[in-house]
Formats: sequence, structure tokens, C-alpha cells
Amino acid sequence: MPQIFIDGQPFQARTEQTVLQAADEMGVYIPRLCWHPRLSIAGNCRICVVQVEGRSWVEISCNMPVSEGLRVLTDSELVREHRKATMQFITLNHPVDCGICDKAGECTLQDYHVAYNGTPSVSQEPKVKSTKFYDLGARITLDNERCILCSRCVRFTREISKSNALGIQERGDHSVVRPAGGAAARSLDEDPYSDNVIDICPVGALLSKKFFYKSRVWYLKATPSVCPGCERGCAIDLWHRKPEWFLRSLDAKQNFAIDRVTPRDNPAVNGPWVCNKARDLPEFFARTRAAVPMRKGREVPLDEALEAARTLLERSRHAVALVSSGGSNEELQAFHRALGDRFQAFVKSDRQAEPGEPVEDELLIRADKNPNGHTARRLFGGAEPAFAPETDLVLVWGEGFEFQRLPRGVPVIFLNAFLQPENGHADVFFPLSLMTERAGHFTNFQGTTSRFEACFPRPAAAVDAETLFEALAAVRAVAT
Ligand code: SF4
Ligand code: SF4
Ligand code: FES
Repeated sequence: MPQIFIDGQPFQARTEQTVLQAADEMGVYIPRLCWHPRLSIAGNCRICVVQVEGRSWVEISCNMPVSEGLRVLTDSELVREHRKATMQFITLNHPVDCGICDKAGECTLQDYHVAYNGTPSVSQEPKVKSTKFYDLGARITLDNERCILCSRCVRFTREISKSNALGIQERGDHSVVRPAGGAAARSLDEDPYSDNVIDICPVGALLSKKFFYKSRVWYLKATPSVCPGCERGCAIDLWHRKPEWFLRSLDAKQNFAIDRVTPRDNPAVNGPWVCNKARDLPEFFARTRAAVPMRKGREVPLDEALEAARTLLERSRHAVALVSSGGSNEELQAFHRALGDRFQAFVKSDRQAEPGEPVEDELLIRADKNPNGHTARRLFGGAEPAFAPETDLVLVWGEGFEFQRLPRGVPVIFLNAFLQPENGHADVFFPLSLMTERAGHFTNFQGTTSRFEACFPRPAAAVDAETLFEALAAVRAVAT
């Protein structure tokens, strides 16, 4: 535990720390562009310079090991001078197109320009022109003029996703990020983690095609959530329009849509990364919703559907439930508490890997494509769904079970959030709320429980599964 001094203040650092990391822990901020806590040290941007007391030069802190008695200054006149010069150098060929850049509002370069430079360009030369929209595949566009060559994206594809998709070509001010090519490289389209490079790019050089010119980030609010794409349950932020910035003249549906998804750093689950399946959640949630309760395809009020479900439940002696592995802990516990004694329950897989989707890897992606099989199996066991000959009622909760597999002629109660042909075939159908319309928890395969919050109000006709189970149980209790 070497003792170091940062701006005169003593600090017990850990031997393996750099000065930048020790300063972070101490609460002293040193700017950084190329350094990233999960990537190797490149040391190429030079913005993180500090001055060792007594020396007349500066050194980069992201690659400076701590040592007993080391004394560094993070804000001396010499440091400020070098930071300003570095910012002027980095922005020498950077276009001033913040006004049309998707990174505006969360761009490190913008923030650092204000904090450490704040003066117009000193150069009289025209800026070097480069490619504005270089196509990096189906998901990402590269603006080489904005790129500051920090190499974070290159290191990510080499060290984290291991696709080796990107490299830097040419020298000096002709240097450009490009697909790496070669036998060891895959394309970004073949990298299931590709969109993380958009987040870690400190400037607006790597841009999401999904989010391209879609919204200014300050119009959006980030709601903490959990990716339901597999049993890893990565921590994410769902970005959607702030009510004070609701659109009035365009389609009002856009006010209640997810505009983008980003990882929320959770060291216990996913660190700062997510796979692209999380990025595609806006499309998953935007599927056409089931709007109304039904009896055999006929729209009915919720009370009538509840009454019909109650009658079926009262008449049954051997009821089977296929419980959703996408239900929240609260919903699963509500079913267990309210209806667990009335059904023989089996855990159902709501989602399987789609064709072409990576099934499993060593980074995050898990083979079970459901977020809460852990809690579902803990409450209801791990047996595969099976129907005894005496089965006289089936409750299906959620997607993913082919109705052809249900016993013929047996009444079905179906709970689902989306519009599907099966909804109309059920004896009683209930439209469910989405996880973006209610709060809850999932517990992942490692036993880590994470909370998700509601982004939007629940549509009037949709019902929360938790409420529905309690209502079915309450009605039954009154009737018996
Ligand atoms: S594209 Fe972004 S992350 Fe990649 S080198 Fe350029 S600035 Fe860095
Ligand atoms: S690894 Fe699983 S939980 Fe994490 S982002 Fe991908 S699909 Fe979602
Ligand atoms: S952050 Fe240290 S050199 Fe870039």
C-alpha cells in the first residue's frame, strides 16, 4: 500500500494502481480520452498529463504506476498549459459540427474543450478532410473527421469482443479507422457486441444507424432497466422522451417509444457492456400490442373475462399452468402465492434463440434467452411441461408455447402482451402490461437480483399479471 500525494493530499494507493486510478478513487478527476478502465493502456491522447513535484515536464498519469512517496500535481500551471495545447492539437482537424452530431450533449471532447481549452482554434490552415459517412455495416457509421484516433474501438474489438474487426490505417493526419481485414478478423456485422464501440468512442465518430439523427440526447430520459434478452440480465438504460419535450405535431406514439438502449455499468452482472440484442429492444417492445380481453376471439370487458376465467378455474380439477420465465420476481411470487395450490405449474421458455442469433459465449450471452428462469424454477421446479390425460384446464402465461402442443379440447386461459393469432383461440384472453410499464425485479442465473423501473404508463386495457393473479384468487375466495 504505497502512500502517494496528489495535489499535496496523502492517499494510500494499491500497488497495482496507476496515478489516474488512484486519483479517481481519491475523488480527483484527471481528464482521459484514450484510457478506458476495461481496456489496455494505449497512452496516445496525452490529455491525462500530471506533473511530478520538482520536475519541469509532464507525464501521462494513465500509464504512471504509483510508488511510495510519489508526489504529483494534477492542476499546476505547467499541467494546465499542456492540457490546453493537447486540446488544441486534438481539435486541430476536428470539424465544428456539434450542431448536427448525435454525440452532442454527451461528448467528452465538447466538455474538455470548455473545461481545459475554451479558446478558438489557433490554426490558420484549412482542416484536413476525411470520410464523413464510412459504412461499417448494418449498424454503425463512421465519421473519420470527428475521430481523434484514441483507438478505444480498435482495442475493444481486439480485447473484449475479440472480433478484431477494426484497425487504424495510414500515418499522421491521413490515419483512419477501417475494418481490419485479414484471416483473424470478423466484420462488425459479425460481432454481437459491436454497438459498444459507439458508447466508448469519446467523440461522435462512431454512430448508431438506429439512433442516427433521431433525437438530441437532452430531450431524452434514461430509465434504469434490465435486459430481458437472456438469463444474464444485463443492466441497461432505456432512453425515451422526457414529458416536457413530448412531440405535439408528429406521431404521438413516439412519445412512448424507446429511442435507444445503452449499458448501465454493473460490475456484478455485465460491467459496462451489453450485446446487440439489448440495443434491439426498441423493436421488441414496439411490436403490435394485444389491446383487449377476449372470450374465444370476442372482445369483452375485463370483468367479463375475469368472471369467465373464474368459472373455468372453479370447474377444473386438474389445472395446469405454463408459467412465464420472463415474469418478474413479484409476478412469479404472486402466482405462487395466489394460485400455486390450484395449478400444477411448469416453467415455460418464452423465448428461444432466433435463427442466426449467437447462442452462448464466454463474455455475456447465455443460452437461456429468458431473464428469470432462475426464480421461476426455484418456485415451480425444473420439469418440462407435460399434460396428464385428466388435464381439464391450461393457463398459458406469455409467449413461446405452440398451441398445437396443448391437449385437444381442453379450455385455455392465455395471458400475453402482444397481438398473436393464439390470443383469439383461447377461451379467455388477457392482454398483459410490458416490463416498460411496471417496476419489478429479475434474478439472473448467478442469483443476482436487479430492478427495472417503468418508463411509460400502462395502457388502459392492459393488466399487470401480478394484479390479475391476485384478482383471480380473490374472486375465487369470494365464490367458495
Ligand atoms: S472512432 Fe472513436 S473510439 Fe475509434 S479511434 Fe476514433 S475516436 Fe477513438
Ligand atoms: S447478454 Fe443477454 S441480458 Fe445481456 S444484453 Fe445480451 S441478451 Fe441482454
Ligand atoms: S488518457 Fe492517458 S494518454 Fe490518453
